[in-house]
Amino acid sequence: MDSGSPGTPTSQPGARKVVRVLSGERLWPPPIWMMRQAGRYLPEYRATRAEAGGFLELCYTPRLATEVTLQPIRRFGFDAAILFSDILVVPQALGQKLWFAEGEGPRLETFDLAALPLVDPATAIGRLAPVFEAVASIRAGLPAETTLLGFCGAPWTVATYMIAGRGTDDQGPARRAAQTDPAAVQRLIDLLVETSIGYLAAQVEAGADAVQIFDTWGGNLDDADFERFAVEPVRRIVEGLRGRGIGVPVIGFPKGAGARLPAYVARTDVSAVGLDWQASLGFVRDHVQPLAPVQGNLDPLRLVTGGAGLDAAIDRILGTLGAGPLVFNLGHGITPDGRIDNVTRMIERVRGAGEVRDHG
Ligand code: CP3
Repeated sequence: MDSGSPGTPTSQPGARKVVRVLSGERLWPPPIWMMRQAGRYLPEYRATRAEAGGFLELCYTPRLATEVTLQPIRRFGFDAAILFSDILVVPQALGQKLWFAEGEGPRLETFDLAALPLVDPATAIGRLAPVFEAVASIRAGLPAETTLLGFCGAPWTVATYMIAGRGTDDQGPARRAAQTDPAAVQRLIDLLVETSIGYLAAQVEAGADAVQIFDTWGGNLDDADFERFAVEPVRRIVEGLRGRGIGVPVIGFPKGAGARLPAYVARTDVSAVGLDWQASLGFVRDHVQPLAPVQGNLDPLRLVTGGAGLDAAIDRILGTLGAGPLVFNLGHGITPDGRIDNVTRMIERVRGAGEVRDHG
């Protein structure tokens, strides 16, 4: 890192493009990467996953995690790679049994919330050593100009899976717990905050240039619980990292935050914010981008449906958000039926974009 004071990362000339934008610079055309860019829409991913025997084997075998992380970089030349892992390795390291049933998504063995802590954060982080090994090996295999992103789940999103034991339509079980036993949920959140700080710090020490905190279910809370369980834990993670002298950009991704995005950015002090595809572009340009660089927000289904609709959706993002700091991305992960030809078309259109005229 440079000498920027903690909490205000500044980029140096020659820094990697995505880091420069996350640090507040506007680059044109904007750099681009894609959530879930290593995944089942790629035949080479499916082959490596079959070789590994399962998804978690991929995550915990540094050689294979490196291979799948690098696959979309080789194929598409994205400006950033994201560590291949999952947000749910943290609960597993904390002692909760985790498995992925084929085609069904994650399953966790439920436990008595009153019986916390499972294990202490330091023990959990020790168990995640293969992840840090993968980060170092990915960095060694990446082109010098490619940004490497580490990540974790936000405490609330991780807690929703830990409490329900699986993903549900509205994560009702965790919202119910937050309303009936807020103290027990708070203890779980506190454990996840501590673990996440150490986990992200270790990823940065192993070579991550920036980190993203995925809060897929943050927007699902009412105002008061959004503040308590989505905003405050992320604020503490950012503060904890800065307190350890870690100045790398931190991207918050509070999916579904909508009109609460400006408050989220201001209160958490994240360096940049990820936008889901429902985020209103004009609102973001006027009320979010003045506070922080933004990343997003193409509807992942555009990569299935393609055509002129894909081009127009890309142009609306570039036209409305292109005058400020923007990292082009999807509004959520690419789906397994996302088409490779549409990914190529998206990258060519973004990289070929001429100077923007504001569409607002
Ligand atoms: O973006 C990337 O390429 C990095 C890798 C990454 C994965 N999961 C790989 C993965 C990241 C950053 C995640 C984050 C994650 N995992 C989130 C937050 C972001 C989001 O997508 O909302 C959540 C909620 C999870 C939990 C999780 N993992 C679910 C709900 C599922 C099942 C859904 C699905 O797509 O199957 C997973 C599995 C998972 N994580 C896969 C991948 C590539 C698919 C596993 C497979 O190969 O079968």
